[in-house]
Amino acid sequence: MKQLKQDGLKVLVVGGGGREHALVWKLRQSPRVAEIFCAPGNAGIAGLATCIDIKAEDITGLLTFAWQQGIDLTVVGPEAPLTAGIVDTFTAHGLLIFGPSRAAAQIEGSKTFAKTLMAKYNIPTSAYGVFTGTGPAYAFIDELAASRQSGPPCVVKADGLAAGKGVIVAADVAEAKVAVRAMLEEGAFGEAGRQVVVEEFLAGEEVSILLFTDGEHMIPMVSSQDHKRVFDGDRGPNTGGMGAYSPAPVYTPALAREVEETILWPTVKALRAEGCVYSGVLYAGLMITATGPKVLEYNARFGDPETQPVLLRLETDLVDIIQAVLERRLAAQPVEWSTDAAVCVVQAAAGYPGSYEKGQVIYGLDQVLPGVEIFQAGTALRDDRVVTNGGRVLGITAQAPGIKAAIELAYRQVAQTGFNGMHCRKDIGRRALARLAGEPKPE
Ligand code: AMP
Ligand code: GLY
Repeated sequence: MKQLKQDGLKVLVVGGGGREHALVWKLRQSPRVAEIFCAPGNAGIAGLATCIDIKAEDITGLLTFAWQQGIDLTVVGPEAPLTAGIVDTFTAHGLLIFGPSRAAAQIEGSKTFAKTLMAKYNIPTSAYGVFTGTGPAYAFIDELAASRQSGPPCVVKADGLAAGKGVIVAADVAEAKVAVRAMLEEGAFGEAGRQVVVEEFLAGEEVSILLFTDGEHMIPMVSSQDHKRVFDGDRGPNTGGMGAYSPAPVYTPALAREVEETILWPTVKALRAEGCVYSGVLYAGLMITATGPKVLEYNARFGDPETQPVLLRLETDLVDIIQAVLERRLAAQPVEWSTDAAVCVVQAAAGYPGSYEKGQVIYGLDQVLPGVEIFQAGTALRDDRVVTNGGRVLGITAQAPGIKAAIELAYRQVAQTGFNGMHCRKDIGRRALARLAGEPKPE
């Protein structure tokens, strides 16, 4: 395989959200990197890289660009190009690219693939069934409901990629059946919903573990926790993520050992055993249940917004880690983290996660407090001004010694940055604070 040269690197980052801004920001710090391009990027990324107008899903366009520009390394943010095989295509053309192959990315692209893998290799997850017809799915929903005294009976998931929207945590049996029918018979989520996974509802606290792996060795990153619901107290509809913090105090050293032994190592080995050697970043979304940690989902990439606080804490040159992954010598690669905590508060457009307006002028971007990075997600430049261009607009990310100080710092920045109609959660990190204070866990 081609070797990554030592310096003067030209890097291409694929994607244009807050995660990609954080990736570009981190790669910029590497003395090995000379130039960064980002496709398509956003207004914040444009301050650190050359944004090019190619969509993240346009693999042919990206390949042509990388080839013509002599790109030395490509780093992929979102899942769609990965599951569509961007890594296979670039590799076949002799280009170095960081991420899993199409076969390995199925762990995110097909919930059935992920569930079957976990079942075969005894990786703890919820009980489940896979269905293409409503009758058997309804029977399984009734079965799951009968085995529970209270709470939601089950979760219905479209098998394929649905931009984070294909998961319905059903409040009752009727809602679960409506979701199944919508997917299987009414074409909700199109092809992605032609097959559904119905699974047992798991109660507990969620934690996200991202890891670097070269297919043989793996190095988990520091833990983090996302906030998926739009409103304080984890209420309201699901979003792409309203904030995240790292580390997650629920993830104790003992739990980390258990997760590595029962989930992370077995997953990396299982993929290899199945002939889909996984190279890149693997994300395990876990539920810490009363009977131990269980996998909710895998992602084939860095999480968003978890990447923002996690990368803020990374002290090692990301290019060195990526090179060690590509050359399959991760076992010898040091990966160092700051002992500080980091918190990311997402500022969203009015109406998000429903429909929202674009084009609101963003203020406060030039007054950044020490210890804060403002990672931009849905932003664009208009007449030299940064305006909103998406649902999740900014990820205000703060680093400080301790979660409490990081939360306070992030919200001080939030108070002086924004745009018309901006809304954000006021309680990012509350579970961490409650846990550290020894209070009973919030609902
Ligand atoms: P997924 O895309 O599979 O992670 O699902 C999105 C969100 O739905 C997760 O972050 C959880 O909050 C919730 N979820 C998914 N599966 C389950 C489950 N089996 N039990 C409880 N909540 C779940
Ligand atoms: N934060 C969840 C995800 O990236 O899918």
